[in-house]
Amino acid sequence: MDNKIYKSRRESLNTILPENCALIIPGADLQYRNADSSYALRQESSFYYFSGFCEPSSLMVMVHQEDKISSIVFVPPKDKLREIWDGYRAGPIGAVDDYGFDQAFENTKINELMPELLQGVKKVFYPIGKKSGFDQNVIDWTCAASSKDRHSQSIDIMDGSSMIGNMRLIKDDHEIEIMKKACDISAESFVEVMKNIKPGENEQLIESKFLYEFGKRGGRFPAYTPIVAGGENACVLHYIENNQDLNESDLILVDAGCEYKMYASDITRTFPVGGKFSEEQLAIYNIVLEANKAAIDAVKTGNNIMEPQLISEKVITKGLVELGILDGNPEELHKEGAFKDFYMHKIGHWLGLDVHDVGDYMENGEFMQFKPGMITTIEPGIYISSSMNVDDKWKGIGVRIEDDILVTNDGNINLTEKVPSCPKEIESLMA
Ligand code: GLY
Ligand code: MN
Ligand code: MN
Repeated sequence: MDNKIYKSRRESLNTILPENCALIIPGADLQYRNADSSYALRQESSFYYFSGFCEPSSLMVMVHQEDKISSIVFVPPKDKLREIWDGYRAGPIGAVDDYGFDQAFENTKINELMPELLQGVKKVFYPIGKKSGFDQNVIDWTCAASSKDRHSQSIDIMDGSSMIGNMRLIKDDHEIEIMKKACDISAESFVEVMKNIKPGENEQLIESKFLYEFGKRGGRFPAYTPIVAGGENACVLHYIENNQDLNESDLILVDAGCEYKMYASDITRTFPVGGKFSEEQLAIYNIVLEANKAAIDAVKTGNNIMEPQLISEKVITKGLVELGILDGNPEELHKEGAFKDFYMHKIGHWLGLDVHDVGDYMENGEFMQFKPGMITTIEPGIYISSSMNVDDKWKGIGVRIEDDILVTNDGNINLTEKVPSCPKEIESLMA
């Protein structure tokens, strides 16, 4: 089993985790949909990042001592009966032999062994507040570790979220290859579904087609619940009811991305159900497209991460003024934030093992700069619901265009450009 990549990630903590400190990362527990019907296990992303290990209720501890990281994992015990029902368990021996941990124990022994493992460390880092009930466990273990020797100094509990997040923020080559594939699967699925959409179909059918196209290409699960929003439903930003019939004269907004080998992709396209944009739909669409393109151009090493945000706000404000939807001087309106009635979310987010991935957005009190290996979404939008005080002809139009952008040494790569966003290309794809 090739688990070198995960071991090397654990080892590289020796430049980040201070000496005589421990980092604890809990894995995911099995989740139940109802009664005893469980969902397939989705391992906790950071636990997976440092282990590649996918059994529930596991936990890992990395301890930095004498310039070396020791990694210890607690895993479900071998159990003949449970393995007949649920499948193979590596057990502690497999965790060492196949996953390269220095030590492994049964997870039934966590409370007994953790105080011993933490004895003598100065600080314990872990992702505070992320797993229900876990904060109290860490307090109990560190108190028990401190009280083992009343003459030792007490152990500080520290939030390890930034330490883990900022490591995950810069994707290594292994991750970039997987994410390219995730984006390809999602892009091909978009093209396939867009080609075959028909007026009168239900949003739920479109969702099913996406899940089928993802699964067929190796992306069994979506990275998040797809948004399939016909007409005005697109103005509900996280619309996931996906149960209305599609009108020929409406746009449909689909925000969907597969998860592939644990990594997310995240694409939005908005296109005409009947295959042809109306004049008003096209006018709004072109503003969002211009914002999308201009913002993507600003995603490059050394640029501030807020640059695409500002550019998109300015393009959208100017476009809305040109259409007479906003009235006034574009610069003044931008300063006042008038665009926020129509564009009420941010330009994007980090993308990785989680769709809204970890990683800070600020460092030293300021928004950070783009660095090679970051992957961000760029997803400007304009949403005009029927309750807004605008000419009726604009009402019910909601448009978002979302791409996944890898920052490189000398610019960026749009990982999702295989799905057309140019209106002419969309119309000819759907013809
Ligand atoms: N799909 C969720 C988002 O775009 O943020
Ligand atoms: Mn997104
Ligand atoms: Mn999205």
